[in-house]
Amino acid sequence: MQKVYKPFKFSQIQNSAHFSEIMNEAGLPFPVSADMSVLAEPVQLGNKTIPNRICIQPLEGFDGTREGAPSDLIFRRYNRFAKGGAGLLWYESITIADDGRCNPLQMIIKPSTIKEIKRLVDETDRTAINAFGRKPYNVLQLTHSGRRSVDANWKSTPLAVVANPYIDHHNAIDGQSGTLSFATDEKIEQIIQEFIEAAVLSVEAGFDSVDIKVCHEYILRELLAAFNRPGKFGGSFENRSRALFDIIDGVRKRLGNSIDICVRLNAYDCIPYPHGWGMVKEEGVMAPDLTETIKLCQMLVERDVRLINISTMMPRYQPYGRGYLAELEGSEIHPYKGTYHLLKATKEIKDAVPGGLFVCTGLTWLEQFGGNVGAGGVKEGWFDFAGFGRQAFAYPDFAKDIIEKNTMYHSKTCITCDKCYDLIQKGHTTTGCVIRDQEVYLPLYRKYVQKQG
Ligand SMILES: Cc1cc2nc3c(=O)[nH]c(=O)nc-3n(C[C@H](O)[C@H](O)[C@H](O)COP(=O)(O)O)c2cc1C
Repeated sequence: MQKVYKPFKFSQIQNSAHFSEIMNEAGLPFPVSADMSVLAEPVQLGNKTIPNRICIQPLEGFDGTREGAPSDLIFRRYNRFAKGGAGLLWYESITIADDGRCNPLQMIIKPSTIKEIKRLVDETDRTAINAFGRKPYNVLQLTHSGRRSVDANWKSTPLAVVANPYIDHHNAIDGQSGTLSFATDEKIEQIIQEFIEAAVLSVEAGFDSVDIKVCHEYILRELLAAFNRPGKFGGSFENRSRALFDIIDGVRKRLGNSIDICVRLNAYDCIPYPHGWGMVKEEGVMAPDLTETIKLCQMLVERDVRLINISTMMPRYQPYGRGYLAELEGSEIHPYKGTYHLLKATKEIKDAVPGGLFVCTGLTWLEQFGGNVGAGGVKEGWFDFAGFGRQAFAYPDFAKDIIEKNTMYHSKTCITCDKCYDLIQKGHTTTGCVIRDQEVYLPLYRKYVQKQG
């Protein structure tokens, strides 16, 4: 089990100036602004307007139907998000193929589920329009889970693209390894086509944009790190990024400009070269090197893929020390350092990629000061959108409080307890906030996590 080091008592931090002081003393000079009004500004992206600079990050609830359609709980989640006021709504990962699910209840985009997915978008938009007179800018995250795939009974069925001694023993979300199979070039070609077909269906469902997911442990991210793979999808930068650009070019060819394209991308993997992306090219060294990440982002912007959401395996991992391995070894993790490094990396990438619009990741760790850091980061040019993940489970109307009251209430924030992860990793069940949304999720936590002791 990992040990997460949490030295700061957020309930005792009085205001953003005090927060700044504490973080500066800890060697973590986050950008901080007491005035968060910058987050209320709309942003123009092509011929569309993103109503404000607050993004709800993709958050899967592991709660679709067996068939892969949205369930009542999914409708409930997006209803809460729509009422909450965030202008950029990044819908959770949805798989492009039946064999690419990371849990047995992940949504699948296919002809038989598209009607219900469209109803989800329509109802969510209508709720936002009723509350604020406008809909959010809607992104759908498309993925194939690759080495994180599981079957209908949660058995790990990992499809890898290259051997990785650091993580081959840990594939599924619950740490199962399963028996690795390796995708042939033909299988990768098939997956590319499936992404393109999924984008076509996304237009039908009414999304503004599709995210070709290149982050976390999923297949397109793994391809970026496939230094040791032979053939057309491995080795050189051109080969490792081929699948991503083939998908983007294929979507444009089929759809022209009828849907925007964006990506969620790992800045760095926190796994050493030659098994991790965005890392110094010296074997075994845990240190980031953003050269290729920046090059990739520049190429994306040249193709008019301007909206880029920067993540890493998990923001709590630092790209130094043990990185991702700390999780597997049970060594101590300092999530505030991890988050600080990731925001700094986002700034470095943004500085080098004019024309890009960048979403940051990890603000939930900063509890009631996440909005102040979001606003500070936008003002100081670190990123363009403040991205919040778990905060939206706990406090779905945080954006409204930021915009209307210039505040985030500590009594409503995510306490970063990780019980939402426990529900999926230990409980193999549907997830949400056990603390702040108790009615639905506390009984599930008691039944599926606590009963295991
Ligand atoms: C339960 C759960 C589900 C998630 N689902 C997704 C997902 O579908 N796609 C994705 O890119 N990230 C997913 N994430 C990661 C979040 O988007 C986000 O990057 C992470 O929680 C860190 O941000 P935060 O500190 O604001 O929560 C998920 C995280 C959690 C806790």
